[in-house]
Amino acid sequence: MDFVATTLFLMLLCSNMFCNCKGISEPTCIGTERSALLRFKQDLKHSSNMLADWTPGNQDCCKWVGVFCDTATGHVTELHLGSSNDTIASAGAHGSSRRLNLKLGGELNPALQDLKSLSYLDLSNNDFNQTQIPHWFWNFTSNLQYLNISWNRFQGKVPDFLTNYHASLVLDLSFNNFTGSLPRISSNVTALDLSNNGFSGSMSQFLCHKKHMMKLEVLSLGANLLSGQIPDCWEKWGSLVAIELCDNNLSGKIPGSMEALTSLQSLHLRNNNLVGEIPGSLSNCTELLTLDLSANHLSGQIPPWMGQRLSKLIIISLGSNMFHGRIPSQICGLTSLQILDLSHNNLSANIPSCINNLTAMITRNESNGRISYKTSKGCFFDNIALTMKGVVFDYSSTLKLIRLVDLSDNNLSGEIPEEMTGLIGLLSLNLSRNHLVGKIPGNIGAMNTLECVDLSENRLSGEIPESMSRLTFLSYLNLSYNNLSGKIPSGTQLQSFSSSSFVGNSLYGPPLTNASTGSKAAAPISDNVGENVVAGTKVNWFVICLECGFWFGFVCVAFPLLFTDKWDSCVFSIRSLIF
Ligand SMILES: *[C@@H]1O[C@H](CO)[C@@H](O)[C@H](O)[C@H]1NC(C)=O
Ligand SMILES: *[C@@H]1O[C@H](CO)[C@@H](O)[C@H](O)[C@H]1NC(C)=O
Ligand SMILES: *[C@@H]1O[C@H](CO)[C@@H](O)[C@H](O)[C@H]1NC(C)=O
Ligand SMILES: *[C@@H]1O[C@H](CO)[C@@H](O)[C@H](O)[C@H]1NC(C)=O
Ligand SMILES: *[C@@H]1O[C@H](CO)[C@@H](O)[C@H](O)[C@H]1NC(C)=O
Ligand SMILES: *[C@@H]1O[C@H](CO)[C@@H](O)[C@H](O)[C@H]1NC(C)=O
Ligand SMILES: *[C@@H]1O[C@H](CO)[C@@H](O)[C@H](O)[C@H]1NC(C)=O
Ligand SMILES: *[C@@H]1O[C@H](CO)[C@@H](O)[C@H](O)[C@H]1NC(C)=O
Ligand SMILES: *[C@@H]1O[C@H](CO)[C@@H](O)[C@H](O)[C@H]1NC(C)=O
Ligand SMILES: *[C@@H]1O[C@H](CO)[C@@H](O)[C@H](O)[C@H]1NC(C)=O
Ligand SMILES: *[C@@H]1O[C@H](CO)[C@@H](O)[C@H](O)[C@H]1NC(C)=O
Ligand SMILES: *[C@@H]1O[C@H](CO)[C@@H](O)[C@H](O)[C@H]1NC(C)=O
Repeated sequence: MDFVATTLFLMLLCSNMFCNCKGISEPTCIGTERSALLRFKQDLKHSSNMLADWTPGNQDCCKWVGVFCDTATGHVTELHLGSSNDTIASAGAHGSSRRLNLKLGGELNPALQDLKSLSYLDLSNNDFNQTQIPHWFWNFTSNLQYLNISWNRFQGKVPDFLTNYHASLVLDLSFNNFTGSLPRISSNVTALDLSNNGFSGSMSQFLCHKKHMMKLEVLSLGANLLSGQIPDCWEKWGSLVAIELCDNNLSGKIPGSMEALTSLQSLHLRNNNLVGEIPGSLSNCTELLTLDLSANHLSGQIPPWMGQRLSKLIIISLGSNMFHGRIPSQICGLTSLQILDLSHNNLSANIPSCINNLTAMITRNESNGRISYKTSKGCFFDNIALTMKGVVFDYSSTLKLIRLVDLSDNNLSGEIPEEMTGLIGLLSLNLSRNHLVGKIPGNIGAMNTLECVDLSENRLSGEIPESMSRLTFLSYLNLSYNNLSGKIPSGTQLQSFSSSSFVGNSLYGPPLTNASTGSKAAAPISDNVGENVVAGTKVNWFVICLECGFWFGFVCVAFPLLFTDKWDSCVFSIRSLIF
């Protein structure tokens, strides 16, 4: 509930800020720019509702909804015409956020070009006619400092962004239907999001043959149709903080020149056709917090240097590849690690008993929220696809809370180390489909934040420890198809799970009925989730967050806590636990 209070407080703060600034200077609108705005409005649909105060009679266009002027010159500098899906944000539309809550449509009128001082243009989340964007528009916008036309239905090719008078440019063209090859960009573009479009072909035109050092910090090309190898041309891209190339058809190896990316904090290559080993060159990317290489065809061993050189890692996701060998004990040195997903590989030998050195999984961080990374333009939020309860979801807005170990579907053997029960902050533990033997650690009840436990399809024996009934937040349990025996601890919440959580053992007692002690149950239906990495929900991966400040007038537009993802019930209860 504190968050709501904080939100309201911030909104109040923000709206005051706007009032003050707008009140003090009273810029007057420039006549030619007013008429340009009116002509621009003429070609828009639904503008009579949304832009009701954009009228010839209303002289000062600097006070129109969505319009911001330079306080000294009166020139229009910013147009905030993105629509919002957030009811709370649009409720504050008059004072603070000034976001529209109905979608604009129609066509782009060239009158926009008369706004010579425009540096910020947000037309996101509207519903423009799917025809090609006129050439004048690209020519004009490549000199802005901020362009956001994401979440529309624009289509056609995107020309190169090579002219740019400004020292920086943030470009968000994501969630449209753009096609053709990737546009080349000038060295001054600092953030580029082309994700969720139909861009195709290779990345080499885009990436290679650069003469100057590029300033790009955020590169998001995920969910397109890119193919060919990831070019070995990263030498000039040392400013990159985040790279997102998920859900394409990229092949070949992870290139060695990525060693130049010494500022890189987030690398997502999920769901491509990459082969080969994790190259030693990545050991130079010592700032990495997130490494997501899942759902490729990578092979070889998990390199021990990962635990030593990449000491800041918070998230490791190597699932659904062909890694073999043992889990290196050096991994235990990653004291910030919260998410370790090595599922669907061919890892063998024991689970390292030093696993309780992963101290971030011991503490519970009460600060709800996203994992964010700083760039010169603000920060952006990370998200990642994780499997819980056999369902793959994109996690973003509660990522900071999640502590997860998923080693399922490997070839691990030996016992579950007793030390594992030291990870008392863990929310989800999945060791299913391995060759684990021995007992369930007697102290498992100490891991009292656990919500999901899957130990199914191993060779675990002995009784279910009494302490397991102390896992009061448990909402998903699967112990099926082991060699467990004895009575299921009774009079506990373990009875609230269905019998399918226990079948395939020699257990008895409720919830197993006399008729179905489960020992002779049919073979389990393998769910093969790992190969179909499907994003449960589409979330904007790259959202510049307000804490860091960015543009004047932009600061209050989006508040991260207003975003909601769809939740698995498992994670949903995490939130209720915190509030
Ligand atoms: C807003 O909601 C509409 C309708 O549900 C949806 O089509 C659109 O993608 C949403 N936009 C964003 C940015 O979530
Ligand atoms: C889109 O524009 C074309 C011509 O530019 C027009 O024929 C068509 O009716 C428009 N579609 C919508 C949905 O406005
Ligand atoms: C694009 O801008 C350049 C210079 O800014 C100009 O020479 C050119 O004619 C413009 N092209 C179009 C199609 O407007
Ligand atoms: C980049 O920005 C600098 C400083 O504003 C400017 O001098 C330079 O021309 C720009 N470069 C390009 C390629 O646009
Ligand atoms: C995107 O464009 C392609 C080809 O023009 C078309 O088949 C497809 O339906 C479009 N998708 C959307 C979501 O409009
Ligand atoms: C992906 O690339 C491979 C070659 O690397 C090609 O055989 C395959 O058809 C491509 N798949 C798609 C969906 O484009
Ligand atoms: C990568 O690290 C090695 C060893 O620390 C160092 O010698 C090399 O110069 C680094 N490469 C780059 C491009 O920083
Ligand atoms: C685990 O932590 C202990 C105590 O901090 C330390 O002595 C040991 O070397 C660590 N083991 C690994 C593999 O990091
Ligand atoms: C798994 O790894 C072992 C060696 O550890 C190897 O013999 C076996 O062929 C691998 N299996 C698969 C399916 O890759
Ligand atoms: C919780 O997270 C915040 C922000 O990421 C960090 O500053 C703090 O040290 C963390 N606390 C613990 C106990 O890990
Ligand atoms: C599991 O590992 C053993 C050696 O530890 C190996 O002989 C066996 O082939 C592996 N099984 C699979 C399915 O890879
Ligand atoms: C662009 O607009 C969308 C939808 O309004 C928003 O989610 C996204 O964060 C914006 N992009 C940037 C870079 O600010």
